[in-house]
Amino acid sequence: MITHKKLANGFSYIEVKNSSAEAKVALQGAHIFHYKRVNEEPILWLSEVSDFEYGKAIRGGVPVCWPWFGFNEDKSLPQHGFARISMWEFVLSDEVDEKTTALTFRLSHDEKTLQMWHHKFLLELKITISDRLTMELKTTNLDDKSFEISQALHTYFSVSDICETTVKGLDKKPYLDALTWKNEVQNGDISFNQEVDRVYQEVDGEIVLKDKNRIIHIKNQGSSSVVVWNPWIEKTSRMSAMNKDAYKWMVCVESANAFDDKKVLKPQESHTLVATIF
Ligand code: BG6
Repeated sequence: MITHKKLANGFSYIEVKNSSAEAKVALQGAHIFHYKRVNEEPILWLSEVSDFEYGKAIRGGVPVCWPWFGFNEDKSLPQHGFARISMWEFVLSDEVDEKTTALTFRLSHDEKTLQMWHHKFLLELKITISDRLTMELKTTNLDDKSFEISQALHTYFSVSDICETTVKGLDKKPYLDALTWKNEVQNGDISFNQEVDRVYQEVDGEIVLKDKNRIIHIKNQGSSSVVVWNPWIEKTSRMSAMNKDAYKWMVCVESANAFDDKKVLKPQESHTLVATIF
C-alpha cells in the first residue's frame, strides 16, 4: 500500500507498507527516513530531534548527497550538495508483488540549481522496498559539456551499541582520514571508541555491519568508495538535530563516489550508483 502523507507544517512524504517491509520517503531529497522489515527493528537510524522542514536536511535515514560530497570550495553552497534539500518529483510507483514496492523520484535542473551548479542534469532515484532495501541513483548529463560529480547515499544505520559494533569488509583498504587529512590503510575490522570519519577507496566487496543483535549486509555497485562516520561525543554535541548521546545508536556507512572515485560524465552519459541493504 502506498499512502501520501503530510505533516502539520505541510512537509510531505510517502508511506509504503507491503507484506515484507515498511518505509517512509520524504519528497524533499527523495529522502528515505524509515525502513523496517516486518517483525524486526528499524534498520535506518533517525534522530529523535530531526527537523522535518523544507530547506533543512533530515538527520537520519538516507540523505542523497549530490552533486558534491562534503564541502564545496564555495563555502556559501550547502554541504553535501543541494539534492537533499530540494523538492523531487514523485514519478512512478510500482507494486511489483505483495512483497515488493518500487518508488521512483526525479530531480532536474532549474533556475535555482543552475545558480549553484552550472549544469543541466537529470537525477533519478529508484527505491525498492522489500526484505531488502535497494537504492539506484542515476545521474544523466543533459548539458553540452562534461561535468564532474561526487556523491553518496549517506545511510545512517541504527545499532544496538556503537561500542559493540564492527564494520567488516574494508581490511587492507586505503582510506583518507577526514579528521587528519592523512592517507592510511585499514588494519582488520573497524570498531569504535572515538570519532571516525574516513573515506575508504578501492572498495570492491560487500560490507558487513555487525552489532550485538544483528548483521546487515551492504552491497554497492558503480562505487568504489565507502565513507564510515560516527561523530562520537564531542562532535555530536555540536551537530544540528542530534541528541547528545545519539552517537551511541548510529553509524553511517555511506555508498559513495567520493574523492578519487568521483565521476566525469560526458554529454548524454549516465552513471548509476546502487546500494543494496539486506
Ligand atoms: C559525513 C561526513 O559524510 O557527513 C562528516 O564524512 C559530516 O564529516 C557528516 O559531519 C554529516 O554531515 P551533515 O552535513 O549532514 O551534518
